[in-house]
Amino acid sequence: MTTIGTPLSPSATRVMLLGSGELGKEVLIALQRLGVETIAVDRYDNAPGHQVAHHARTITMSDPEQLKALIEAERPKLVVPEIEAIATPMLEQLEAAGVVRVIPTARAARLTMDREGIRRLAAETLGLPTSPYRFCDSLAELQAAIDGGIGYPCIVKPVMSSSGKGQSKIDGPADVKTAWDCAMAGGRVGPGRVIVEGFIDFDYEITQLTVRALGASGQVETHFCEPIGHVQVSGDYVESWQPHAMTPAALAESRRVAQAVTDNLGGQGLFGVELFVKGDQVWFSEVSPRPHDTGMVTMITQWQNEFELHARAILGLPVDTTLKSPGASAVIYGGVDATGIAFDGVAEALRVPNSELRLFGKPESFKKRRMGVALVHDADVDVARTQAKRAAAFVKPRAA
Ligand SMILES: Nc1ncnc2c1ncn2[C@@H]1O[C@H](COP(=O)(O)OP(=O)(O)O)[C@@H](O)[C@H]1O
Ligand SMILES: [Mg+2]
Repeated sequence: MTTIGTPLSPSATRVMLLGSGELGKEVLIALQRLGVETIAVDRYDNAPGHQVAHHARTITMSDPEQLKALIEAERPKLVVPEIEAIATPMLEQLEAAGVVRVIPTARAARLTMDREGIRRLAAETLGLPTSPYRFCDSLAELQAAIDGGIGYPCIVKPVMSSSGKGQSKIDGPADVKTAWDCAMAGGRVGPGRVIVEGFIDFDYEITQLTVRALGASGQVETHFCEPIGHVQVSGDYVESWQPHAMTPAALAESRRVAQAVTDNLGGQGLFGVELFVKGDQVWFSEVSPRPHDTGMVTMITQWQNEFELHARAILGLPVDTTLKSPGASAVIYGGVDATGIAFDGVAEALRVPNSELRLFGKPESFKKRRMGVALVHDADVDVARTQAKRAAAFVKPRAA
């Protein structure tokens, strides 16, 4: 049975978010609405989620000692990772010692922070279809992996990285060294290991949001959202829409793959399963054991958006993944390197029919940093895509 107390009182239900960017901010808002006491943690002050939580904390989450000290001081009921760059072995230790419950599980957080952990689980343990891949620790090993079967074209990524950082496509022998150097510069923990993957010539890619939540019987049940289509530029999402039309066979296969991965990762919460689709064929790519950036579209398309679904699922509450209306999201980039920027054109953007905006409130802007998102609903998903991009284009960030 789920009981929720009163925030800022001894009965409070306290939840700690590790990572408080735009996705964490929305999870925090959903938790706030349910009367949960929230602790937002990030690596810098005034992060988006810091601005909407009861408590804001700034630490280096990849430092196990800082992480342990904070969790032991705050003693939250749940710890909810929002990013990958966390000292996950420490979370496993604290979870094993019964100090805290990690969402969905500390093991899931560890396996998915590293491309090797999740890829080996999906392909080798679960036997799911993926691109062909090898792991390499040097330029020579990379070349040998390509010559030994991966072939051209292929994609190289640091094993620890996200949002396309350090990732590049190799079309022929001349690109190999550049790709290696790019990966060495772009990894999260400095020079190291890469994955090289055969390039999948997919028709489209989707995010299959999958929720593990308690049913009336107290058992975990799996719920699927409608598929989300998206476009990535240099490994970073620029627009998404829901639903994405799929053949019944491709949809069924997507859900089979999503179910297999999420069953294994376990726990309660929402997952973003990334899949490549060609005809009826589906490849597993990767999974976030938490809300997914492409799923921001659900803020306008679902009765319960992905953040509300996550909040409900982790608290042991029922969920409903029904679509409210088709719709689309389009990213608003900073466009400038500056702190405390201003946004012009907000009214013009909101004059686009059926639109909404989220401006994340990040204290510092970079040219390619995601600073906001435009959302549009429309019965026709193609109209929604066009209109979301129009709305996003009206917003003009500038140095204040
Ligand atoms: N093997 C592949 N074949 C074709 N495209 C790929 C492949 N791997 C990645 N991509 C493209 O790059 C994007 C980002 O790759 P991904 O592995 O999801 O990295 P990240 O963790 O940075 O999101 C994918 O969404 C897809 O568009
Ligand atoms: Mg991805």
